[in-house]
Amino acid sequence: MKIHTFLIILLLITLSSCKLVDYDSVKVENETIVEKQIDSLLEIMTIEEKVGQMNQYNGFWDVTGPTPKVGNAVKKYEHLRKGWVGSMLNVRGVKEVRAVQKIAVEESRLGIPLLIGFDVIHGYKTLSPIPLAESASWDLEAIKNSARIAAIEASASGINWTFAPMVDISRDARWGRVMEGAGEDPYLGSKIAQARIKGFQGDNLSDVNTIAATAKHFAAYGFSESGKEYNTVEVSASTLNNVVFPPFEAAVKSGVKSFMNAFNELNGVPATGNNFLLRDVLKEKWRFDGFVISDWGSISEMKDWGYAENDKEAAKMAVTAGSDMDMESYIYIKYLVHLVKNKEIDEAIIDDAVRRILRVKFELGLFDDPYKYCDDKREAEMIGNSKHHEAVLDVAKKSIVLLKNENNLLPLKKNGQKIVLIGALASDNNSPLGSWRLAADDNTAVSVLQGMQNYKGNDLIFKKGADVSIGKTAFTKEVVINNSDKSEFNEAKEAAKSADVVVMVLGEVGFQSGESRSRTNLQLPGVQQELLEEIYKVNKNIVLVLNNGRPLALTWADKHIPAIIEAWQLGTQTGNAVAQVLYGDYNPSGKLPMTFPRNVGQVPIYYNYKNTGRPVNSNNNVFYSHYIDVESSPLYPFGYGLSYSTFQYSNLYLKPVSLMADNPKIEVTLNIKNTSNTDGKEVVQLYIRDLFASVVRPVKELKGFELIELKAGETKAVSFILDKSTLGFYNNNGDYIVEPGKFKVFVGGSSNTSLEKEFELN
Ligand code: BGC
Repeated sequence: MKIHTFLIILLLITLSSCKLVDYDSVKVENETIVEKQIDSLLEIMTIEEKVGQMNQYNGFWDVTGPTPKVGNAVKKYEHLRKGWVGSMLNVRGVKEVRAVQKIAVEESRLGIPLLIGFDVIHGYKTLSPIPLAESASWDLEAIKNSARIAAIEASASGINWTFAPMVDISRDARWGRVMEGAGEDPYLGSKIAQARIKGFQGDNLSDVNTIAATAKHFAAYGFSESGKEYNTVEVSASTLNNVVFPPFEAAVKSGVKSFMNAFNELNGVPATGNNFLLRDVLKEKWRFDGFVISDWGSISEMKDWGYAENDKEAAKMAVTAGSDMDMESYIYIKYLVHLVKNKEIDEAIIDDAVRRILRVKFELGLFDDPYKYCDDKREAEMIGNSKHHEAVLDVAKKSIVLLKNENNLLPLKKNGQKIVLIGALASDNNSPLGSWRLAADDNTAVSVLQGMQNYKGNDLIFKKGADVSIGKTAFTKEVVINNSDKSEFNEAKEAAKSADVVVMVLGEVGFQSGESRSRTNLQLPGVQQELLEEIYKVNKNIVLVLNNGRPLALTWADKHIPAIIEAWQLGTQTGNAVAQVLYGDYNPSGKLPMTFPRNVGQVPIYYNYKNTGRPVNSNNNVFYSHYIDVESSPLYPFGYGLSYSTFQYSNLYLKPVSLMADNPKIEVTLNIKNTSNTDGKEVVQLYIRDLFASVVRPVKELKGFELIELKAGETKAVSFILDKSTLGFYNNNGDYIVEPGKFKVFVGGSSNTSLEKEFELN
C-alpha cells in the first residue's frame, strides 16, 4: 500500500473517532492528526528509510562548495529509488523537479515526497536588492513583499524550501556575507527576519505559492575573526545572548520551518555538533519544532576542525547534537544505520529528526499533492511576471540611502544639462544583480546608463574610465583581481571637463561580496579611487553613486564629493531605481543598517558599543579610549541617511504608565516636522540606554522605529511604547531580566541623535 492511500485511511479512522470539535481547537486537532500520521509512518519505516529522510543531495549541476568524491549521479538516482533521500537542493524548474519527485514518490517503497531546497536569497528570476540593501529601507512591508515575490517565483519553479533568510548579525564589513544579512543591529535584524519569513511562508504554508524558510547560520557566523570567511569566532556570553541570538529567536517565534548550522565553531565546538546551540537553546529553550540542516559539508568539516576523528564520529556527534539533515557530507547515509544497529546512538534521536522533517513535508501539503509545485502553466505565467518587476523596483528605490547632498546638487535638473556618466559599473547589466542569484539570467539588470537614458531632456554622455575587476564569475577566484588599467582615464577626463554634472558609478562588482569574498581593504577596488580624484581635478560637480555589497571606507569622497548616493546592488531594476532618485522622481528615505567606517582599521565598528571605563573626555588627557591617527566616530553611523526633505524632531515626552521593573510601560511621544518644500519619508528611530546594570549595557540600543510620510511643512506626532520586551536584556546565564534603575531615551533620524529624556524604574 502506497503511503498516500495509507494516510487517507488513517485520517478517516482518526476523524471518525473524534467528537465534534470547537473551532478554536481545530489547529491543535490538525496538529495532532499530523503527529499521528507521522507516528504511523515512523512505525512502518525501516531504519534505512528513516535515515534516508535525513539525507540531502545536491542536484547535478549547481555546486556551491567542494564536491565530495563519493556519490555520482547514478548513485543518487539509485538512492532516490530506495527512499534514501529526503531532500534535494539545486534542482530547479518544473520539469527537473517533477523528474526527481516522480522517482521519490512513484518508485520508492513508501513514496515520501522530497523537499526541494534552493538559495532563494533576494529573489528567484526577478531580483530584489541584495538583503543588506533592502534592510536599508527599514520598510518591513516592502521587505515582506520582496520575499513574497521570491516565493511566488521559486514555488512556481518547483521549489518548496529556501535557505533564507540569513539572520546573522555582523559588525565587520570585511566579511563578504554582510551583503546577505540585515546588518549590525539585533532589533532591526529581528524585525527584518520576521518580515522575510512571513513573506516566504505566507499565512498558510500549504498554499501553492509559499515555501518553507530557513534561519541561518546558527550561530555567530557573522563574528568570524578578522572578517575572514569560515574563520573561528570569539563571542562573549553577553554578545551571544543579546546580539547574536535575538534574530534567531524571533525567527522561531515567526514559525520558521528550518534552521541551518553555521560553519564556525563556538567555544571550541563546531556549530554543527554543538549540543548547547541545537539542543539546549534551539530545541529546548525556544521549543523549535522544525528541523536543522547542516551547511554544505559542515558535518564532514568537523574533522578538519580537529573535533571529530573520522566520518563515523562526525555523524554521531552531529546527530546527537541535533543536526537533523546532512547537506552534502554523504555521512548520515553512510553511517547512521550502522550506528543505530550497533546501539551507538539511540533510534529515538533518529525518530525525532525524521519527525521534524516529515512535519514540514506535511505542513507544505506535499503528502496531499507531491506535484503541487510542478505546474508548467503557473511556471510560465509567474517567472519574471511584469508585476514582479514593479514590486522589485519599488523596494529598490526604498533601499537607496542618500549619504551627502551639499548645496542641493541633487536632484538633477531634467532639462538642458550636459551630464557625463563615468564608471564601468554604470553600464553593467550583470553586477547589479549582486551575489546569490543562481536562478537569474546573467546581464538582466537595468543598468544605471539605461535608467538615465529614459530621461531625455539632458545631453547624456557615457565614458567607462576604468574597469573594476577582471573576471566576474560566481565560483572562481579571479574576481578578486582588481583592474589596474588607466588607459581610458583621459577620455573620461576630457568629457567631464565641460559637464554640468558628472555622475560617477563606482564600487564593487556583484561577486566581490557574498560567500567567501572577504576583503582586507574597504576602499573602492582597483583604480577607481584614482579615477575619482582625477575627474575631481577637472570638475567638482560630482554625484558619486555607489554600487557595493558592504560598507566601504569613503573618507576622501565624503570630504570632497558634494553628493553621494549609496545604491548597493539593487537587483533587476537597479538602473530605473537609481535614475528616479537622481532625477527626484523618488525622494530617498533609506537609512544605513550598518556603520560605515572611516578606514578599515576601525572595524569592527558599530553604534551599540559599550562605553568603556575611559570614554571620550573633554580635557586633554591622552589616556582614554581612542585612536591617535583617526577620530573614533564612524564616517556614517548606523541609522543615518538623508532625504531631499529636511526634518525636525521636537517635544520628546515620556509618559510613565508603570515604572515597576517587573511590569514597566512608558509611552514615548514626539513631534516630527517636514521643514522643507518637498514631500518625504523619514524613519523615526527610538533608542534607549540602560545607565547602570548588572551586565554592562551599550551606549545606545535601538528599540523602535517607524517609517513616517510627511507632506512639505507637515508635522506629525509619533508614539512608541517601551515595556518589558524592550527594556530588558539577557544576563550571562541567558535569562532575560528587566532591572530597576535609570534609563535614557533618545529619538531622531539616526543613531547619532541627541534629543533625549530620562526615566527611572523602581
Ligand atoms: C552556504 C549556505 C547555502 C548553502 C547551499 C553554503 O555554502 O553557506 O548559506 O545555503 O551553501 O547553497
